[in-house]
Amino acid sequence: MEKTPIEKQLIDEAIVAFGLNDFGKATIREVKAIAAQAETASGIEFIKMEMGVPGLPPSAIGVKAEIEALQNGVAAIYPDINGLPALKKEASRFIKAYINNDLSPEGCVPVTGSMQGTYAAFLTCSQCDEKRDTILFIDPGFPVQKQQLVVMGQKYETFDVYKYRGEKLHDKLESYLAKGNISAIVYSNPNNPCWICLEEEELKTIGQLATQYDAIVLEDLAYFAMDFRKDLSKPFEGPFQASISHYTDNYVLLISGSKAFSYAGQRIGVTCISDKLYHRSYPGLAKRYGGTGTFGSVFVHRVLYALSSGTSHSAQYALAAMLKAAADGTYNFVEEVKVYGDRARKLKEIFLRHGFHLVYDKDLENPVADGFYFTLGYPGMTSSELAKELMYYGVSAISLATTGSNQEGLRACTSFIGDHQYEQLDERMAIFAKNHPVD
Ligand SMILES: Cc1ncc(COP(=O)(O)O)c(C=O)c1O
Repeated sequence: MEKTPIEKQLIDEAIVAFGLNDFGKATIREVKAIAAQAETASGIEFIKMEMGVPGLPPSAIGVKAEIEALQNGVAAIYPDINGLPALKKEASRFIKAYINNDLSPEGCVPVTGSMQGTYAAFLTCSQCDEKRDTILFIDPGFPVQKQQLVVMGQKYETFDVYKYRGEKLHDKLESYLAKGNISAIVYSNPNNPCWICLEEEELKTIGQLATQYDAIVLEDLAYFAMDFRKDLSKPFEGPFQASISHYTDNYVLLISGSKAFSYAGQRIGVTCISDKLYHRSYPGLAKRYGGTGTFGSVFVHRVLYALSSGTSHSAQYALAAMLKAAADGTYNFVEEVKVYGDRARKLKEIFLRHGFHLVYDKDLENPVADGFYFTLGYPGMTSSELAKELMYYGVSAISLATTGSNQEGLRACTSFIGDHQYEQLDERMAIFAKNHPVD
């Protein structure tokens, strides 16, 4: 065995000190803390791939608009709970420009990030009909969303889509929906953690079944237009961001400022409720809140009002300006984040050359896109073994087990990779491959 770049004892002791029996169950924060500790103790830089934090400067257009709004005094005034009219209008126009769908400004509601959008949507969907008390995850997914349901005491079910792509999705999804307890279905597209993108035929299946079984689809577009296999950067011109909104009226889109515009710090996003759903009355909502119990009104005037009484005023100006510039065609936001795809391509090439494989490797017949995340496996190693073993080589990533995946492997994020780290990774993975020969 060749000596590992980081002393094994250092990692093993840190894992014990964190009280972790199984490193595969470590949260992102725990992996980050152990990597930081080992980095300080060893003086060797880690290749950090555990955190999904944007690693690029924020959109200059957003920053400028926000500073101007602050200088004009908006900080003193409560924002309109329905959202800044300019932002609502621009969100609706952005959806037309980049998804090619019509959604009224009324249904475009600002939130303090998509995290708040899903929390408010989970809550509203769960209260529509008391028989429908469960949220369905098309996994793998973003672990914090399950945490949100735990916080609110709401039930969820989940399945790993790995074996149910394409035609197989229909029966699998129907097996849950037919039970009558599902209020909403949630997934992200492109997907965190495995960067699969559901194809149009799969979205059509989800949409048709959602209509048939009266479930609401929560489509998390945190990585909007970041399927870099297609040029999704041209407003009002195809190809467009794939979306459930073409296949059902029962939908809520969650568009985040965090990744597409590198604006995570200001906690801004927009939740876009379809026109039909916005105005639909639900008996459960009417009973709980009185009045007509329409979805949109309860979402905004009851739930969001109770959670945060609106969204930071200046951040709404920022998002309005970024969405406007994007739809005007004067700001190519896709070009600004394409670097994540370039990094993924280089990193994947290094890992594959040293015997690793991509766990979620295809969207039907097509190789998955290069983007913000990718998944990694190594022959004969479980998720836990691989996550821990890579730490000895100064590479930190999270186990897929924490994301609702049944596959053995890791999620790697490209956002923190520096240009000097490809060579480092190549050297370290060459030692890894020597130490772990594959038959
Ligand atoms: C799939 C997914 N949804 C939502 C979020 C959070 O978005 P926001 O920062 O807008 O709350 C993330 C961030 O990592 C994500 O990966």
